Amino acid sequence: MRTPPRLQPLVDEGLVDSVVRQLMSGKEALAYVVRCGDETRCAKIYKEANNRSFRQAVDYTENRKVKNTRQARAMAKGTKFGRQAQEAAWQSAEVDALYRLAHAGVRVPTPYNFHEGVLLMELITDAHGDAAPRINDVPLTAEQARAHHATLLLQVVRMLCAGIVHGDLSEFNVLLGEDGPVIIDLPQAVDAAGNNHAQRILLRDVANLRGFFGGFAPELLQMDFGPEIWDLYQRGLLTPETPLTGVFRKQEGQVDLGGVLREIDDARAEEAARRLRMLAPG
Ligand SMILES: Nc1ncnc2c1ncn2[C@@H]1O[C@H](COP(=O)(O)OP(=O)(O)OP(=O)(O)O)[C@@H](O)[C@H]1O
Ligand SMILES: [Mg+2]
Repeated sequence: MRTPPRLQPLVDEGLVDSVVRQLMSGKEALAYVVRCGDETRCAKIYKEANNRSFRQAVDYTENRKVKNTRQARAMAKGTKFGRQAQEAAWQSAEVDALYRLAHAGVRVPTPYNFHEGVLLMELITDAHGDAAPRINDVPLTAEQARAHHATLLLQVVRMLCAGIVHGDLSEFNVLLGEDGPVIIDLPQAVDAAGNNHAQRILLRDVANLRGFFGGFAPELLQMDFGPEIWDLYQRGLLTPETPLTGVFRKQEGQVDLGGVLREIDDARAEEAARRLRMLAPG
């Protein structure tokens, strides 16, 4: 196909030889199959960021490192420079997460390059070498659902041990590759230790997996892996080898005061966001 203008800089640099076809377009990015020498790869182009939600701006970017205070001030004020800085931080968060996770042994697409707002990475493929389907497009038996759920939980644990929570994990961001499920789409990944919302975000990720795979293997709906994983992590006991039971009982008398306060803060932030939306024109 003709080279889309946003991919031209990669062609000029010799990073890409030709563009084969466009993959299903997501909310935030366009993905293409490209040829690089003898290899087929995936090029992800980020769209403009102006319609990201308030929650993402607040939760996900908390404690994300910015280069200097001018950048931080501009991001806080929402000036054009600030929005550009925020956009760059958002895009590079995915690249950072992919490198860190690949290093930590998590099965994610291998990143090759990040150039002019385009991420060049491994194309996840099915048994025929074609781009792999999203797992929500694949019919599963109960047995397959149980196996994929277990594989993905282990990936979530490995990610957490590497200090990262995905933040948008669901059947729409898991591809079923030839060798099993592969987690993709990480620009909203959060820092597990530095972000006050990390616990809630992790619990939501794990609950999403349970909800999807529980549709094929209903006994999964009774399991409670999220709180168990977070509890072990918080007590410094979580490793990829830690056996999980899916049963979690909070110890009597243990009050998570920090958690309660955060929930109150969250409710306040949500209310403020709601009022802002009501004030916004259109
Ligand atoms: N490495 C990859 N290998 C194969 N296909 C991929 C790869 N990365 C992305 N895709 C395809 O491109 C689509 C969009 O990618 P991704 O989920 O990263 O972007 P997005 O626009 O942020 O998605 P969302 O709709 O979740 O916001 C995926 O659903 C998948 O079909
Ligand atoms: Mg996606």
